[in-house]
Amino acid sequence: MNPSQHKMPLYEALLNLKKEESYSFHVPGHKFGTVFSESGKELFQSILEVDATEIAGLDDLHAAKGVIKEAQELASQFFESDDTYFLVNGTTSGILAAVLSVCRPGDTVIVQRNCHKSILHGLELAGAQPVFLMPDYEKDTGRYSGVNAEIINEALKQHSEASAVFLTYPDYFGRVFDMKRVCEVVHNYHIPVVVDEAHGVHFKLGLPFPPSAIDLGGDLIIQSAHKMAPAMTMASYLHVKGEKIDQSRLNYYLQVFQSSSPSYPLMASLDLARHYLASFTQADKSNLLTYIDGLRKVWAEASSYWGLLPGGYLDDPLKLTLEARGGLSGFQVAEVLEAHHLYPELATEKQVLLTIGLTPNMNLHKLHERLEEVNCQLKKQLKNATISVDQPLFPKFQTLDIDYAEMSLRSSEFVEWRYAANRICAEAVIPYPPGIPFILKGERVSKEQVNGVNALLRQGASFQNVHVERGIWVF
Ligand SMILES: Cc1ncc(COP(=O)(O)O)c(C=O)c1O
Repeated sequence: MNPSQHKMPLYEALLNLKKEESYSFHVPGHKFGTVFSESGKELFQSILEVDATEIAGLDDLHAAKGVIKEAQELASQFFESDDTYFLVNGTTSGILAAVLSVCRPGDTVIVQRNCHKSILHGLELAGAQPVFLMPDYEKDTGRYSGVNAEIINEALKQHSEASAVFLTYPDYFGRVFDMKRVCEVVHNYHIPVVVDEAHGVHFKLGLPFPPSAIDLGGDLIIQSAHKMAPAMTMASYLHVKGEKIDQSRLNYYLQVFQSSSPSYPLMASLDLARHYLASFTQADKSNLLTYIDGLRKVWAEASSYWGLLPGGYLDDPLKLTLEARGGLSGFQVAEVLEAHHLYPELATEKQVLLTIGLTPNMNLHKLHERLEEVNCQLKKQLKNATISVDQPLFPKFQTLDIDYAEMSLRSSEFVEWRYAANRICAEAVIPYPPGIPFILKGERVSKEQVNGVNALLRQGASFQNVHVERGIWVF
């Protein structure tokens, strides 16, 4: 470990502040926790004591010159980026700023269709013309996941005017693809690759984790530190590598999409998460891998109502995927796990995703006992035949049926699902998690999509659409 990585400048500045007997004539109103609801005081106290703001010595995220700058530079050194920015409004804010910084109104951009909604929101705000790429179907996982260099090349040949390519790496389930070749192809067109690496902040730890896009040619890479590393929720990093990104535009949009009162506990958790990753030793890694082997064994043997998908070199070992069996859906399995206070990350029609932390934190014997209870309940559960979802077949390349500029001028109406087919969707329909749209805003709704949403609803999927059980907004 580089000796400077031992430092945690922002966290240490907050600790020093806590040592002083300070009187705050400044916001926030809780005055270092001295003015606060008695009901929450005990739990919140230690955090409130460092919940400061831009007072002397604590720098300013939006014009960093002091401890925040130092903390960002240490993160950049660890991740081997050219510049790293702390984000306090999640990867969502970094993606919005990234899209706006590389896209001008009317620009064509190439986008993986299975992207997070924040990319689509950014494209809408930018007034871009997206060309969506259908990801590859992977037989071993039964999912549509990554893209390959050939399809990117074909898309860029057809759309050589494109100003950027947006990719998601890894997917939610931790699966990666050959990012290096993809970046080489894109760079032949002298445009940047923006990578949503929300689920890959720990990849920098090296094998057996897949490589990070930072080392594979990505130009702008955004990572949710809070997802797979120990950072507070909403804490993320944005990394820039190379010369293709206009950092003055990026800086401007980071100010547009982030709070002018960024949370210091959040930012300090980014300083600490970088320190945690930089201090991760080979011994920690082998300890973790032994723990993961044990964990996999416990899950694999616990029940015949699921099978554990094998992980390969393309898979993040911190993600375990269960495949529901015995006529149950992934949603049903997840529901019973939750009833036993075992909280999976996500469920789909057929699968349940579990994420693991970087330090062993569970007693495997106790987990085994809990899973035996889960198995007993699943045995008793009336088995519903899985309602199968018609997988809509999307074209290899797809553009929107109405562009964002026109959509902003049109008014929309709410229709019941039975009237939705063939209408143009006016609100993306988004099962959550994972937050990836099933129907895009601006695309013509197909019958298969209508059937698919209805089947997902019957299976118990949650959506981020308030009236999804009744219908959809259309143009
Ligand atoms: C692939 C992907 N990208 C981006 C995001 C947004 O990240 P954040 O929650 O940090 O804003 C998510 C969140 O689930 C995600 O799964």
